[in-house]
Amino acid sequence: MKLFKGANGEVLELIYPADEAVEVVVNGQPAAELKAGSTDAATEKHVPAVKAVDGKLEVQVGEIAHPMLDNHYITNIWVEYPDGTVEKKTLKPGEAPNAEFDITDVNGKVTVYEYCNLHGLWKKEIEL
Ligand SMILES: [Fe+2]
Repeated sequence: MKLFKGANGEVLELIYPADEAVEVVVNGQPAAELKAGSTDAATEKHVPAVKAVDGKLEVQVGEIAHPMLDNHYITNIWVEYPDGTVEKKTLKPGEAPNAEFDITDVNGKVTVYEYCNLHGLWKKEIEL
């Protein structure tokens, strides 16, 4: 999965990206590929805290729960599985910055991404 940000703040998902670089254009303007952890912000509130418990992947953003205010919140949590499939939870201000995903029969590298509307993309990898 790759994520891009358009000139007007749109966030776009690209599932099953090609190996070579792609150019994403929104309304005639190039969108920038988001790079996890590239913003100067508190890692303990942004890097997803991930735990595998009884066939469930429990995710909290982050080790210290991220604020979920109207003007500063986690918009989405994505899980990318070893076969390239992706699941997502969309969040709203006021909700807990948490998600739970079914990982029954999942083996291999799983990447959890989250997007903060002010501090961008962050990720955590876990081997199942
Ligand atoms: Fe943030």
